[in-house]
Amino acid sequence: MAEDDPDRRRFLGVATCAVGGAAALAVGVPVLRLVIAPAGTTTVTGPSEPLDLGPIDRFRVGAEPRKVEIIAPIVKDAWTAARNVVLGAAFLRRPTADKVIALSAVCPHLGCAVGWDAAAKNFLCPCHDSRFEADGPKLDGPSERGLDPLPVTIVDGRLRLTWVRYKLGIAERETL
Ligand code: FES
Repeated sequence: MAEDDPDRRRFLGVATCAVGGAAALAVGVPVLRLVIAPAGTTTVTGPSEPLDLGPIDRFRVGAEPRKVEIIAPIVKDAWTAARNVVLGAAFLRRPTADKVIALSAVCPHLGCAVGWDAAAKNFLCPCHDSRFEADGPKLDGPSERGLDPLPVTIVDGRLRLTWVRYKLGIAERETL
């Protein structure tokens, strides 16, 4: 009988496998691409452009360093976009009318937030007692280097700061 023909049965088996495999590929490949697409690519993008910190007049000439939150208008990852994301904090000082010094508030030792010690007129990290001069160099403690500077410019009377993250726990200053 035709139903018992071994060639026909073999053909039907191969055809079934081929159709099933093609269907699995048609569904599986796009799903796999969707899942692994972000791997190996930069999926979170923070601002590499300078951020506007407002009028330079906010910072009085000769005043002590002032802590400012650094907020990105938008940060994107592969699927979402978040607005007004706090990236960190910086201490800004304006020694002269046309000069501003900005230091990251991230301790270069292990990343705690440093604070301004008004009595000692220097920065102190509360985690392991590293101390830093008002302009950033290390004074004391386990930190391998001084506070990290952040690029600032004054454009049309407004202060613009570029947020930079550095590697922690090393003497050299390397960006992440
Ligand atoms: S994290 Fe600042 S001294 Fe350790």
